[in-house]
Amino acid sequence: MNQLRKIVIAGNWKMNQTPAQTTQLLNEIKPLVTDACCDIIVCVPYIDLHAALQATEGTNIRVGAENCHWEQRGAFTGEISASMLSSIGVEYVIIGHSERRTYFGETDITVQKRVRAALDEKLKVILCVGEYLEQREQGITEELISMQVKIALGGVSEEKLERIIIAYEPVWAIGTGKTATAEQANAVCALIRHTIAELYNQNLANAMTIQYGGSMNAKNARELLTQPDVDGGLIGGASLKASEFSAIVNAASQV
Ligand code: PGA
Repeated sequence: MNQLRKIVIAGNWKMNQTPAQTTQLLNEIKPLVTDACCDIIVCVPYIDLHAALQATEGTNIRVGAENCHWEQRGAFTGEISASMLSSIGVEYVIIGHSERRTYFGETDITVQKRVRAALDEKLKVILCVGEYLEQREQGITEELISMQVKIALGGVSEEKLERIIIAYEPVWAIGTGKTATAEQANAVCALIRHTIAELYNQNLANAMTIQYGGSMNAKNARELLTQPDVDGGLIGGASLKASEFSAIVNAASQV
């Protein structure tokens, strides 16, 4: 972490929680994070957005969706557009999560289209990148991650870049209980920052929030968050328990 940058802890609820459970979980989280010194976001299923917006009104918790389509409207059964999200007051959206890439045919190009559409609608984006274990073992992590970043940001202006957070999530660490070591996480977050400096400039790179994600929990959060290039976390499993999520938020507030 670095004093120049915002530290952001975001929950990614994935396909969990009904609207009623959303209200309940947020009511549990709220009093535990009132003194946080970091930004807090919860990204929830579409059907839970209304409940999340209501439950977090007037608090320090922001709300995000887990994906959005690149067209504003049209014959795209089952999809939700960025303008539909912004119309109800959603502020953030996750794009390019590895589960979208792995299970739903998301490619670097569709990620780029979704990023652009979200930014056009004034949403803030949490852009996910990450390598598979085979790719790490092959020694191509750096090339792959920098390519994912470059393609996803194709056509994004300097001004719009300020609304992007990048989350480095090694696929082998997501939901597996296997966390990248603090050194591995920091090395790839630093590489992403270097890529941003190459694409834009060093000032924008220095100001960008780059999160680590992949089995972050209350126990390992501090070690990961104290790394110089790790500016927060994107948290799946542990974001569904108020005590775990708030412990991570509080760890981030202390680094
Ligand atoms: P995890 O998920 O914390 O359960 O590993 C992280 C993510 O997928 O964003």
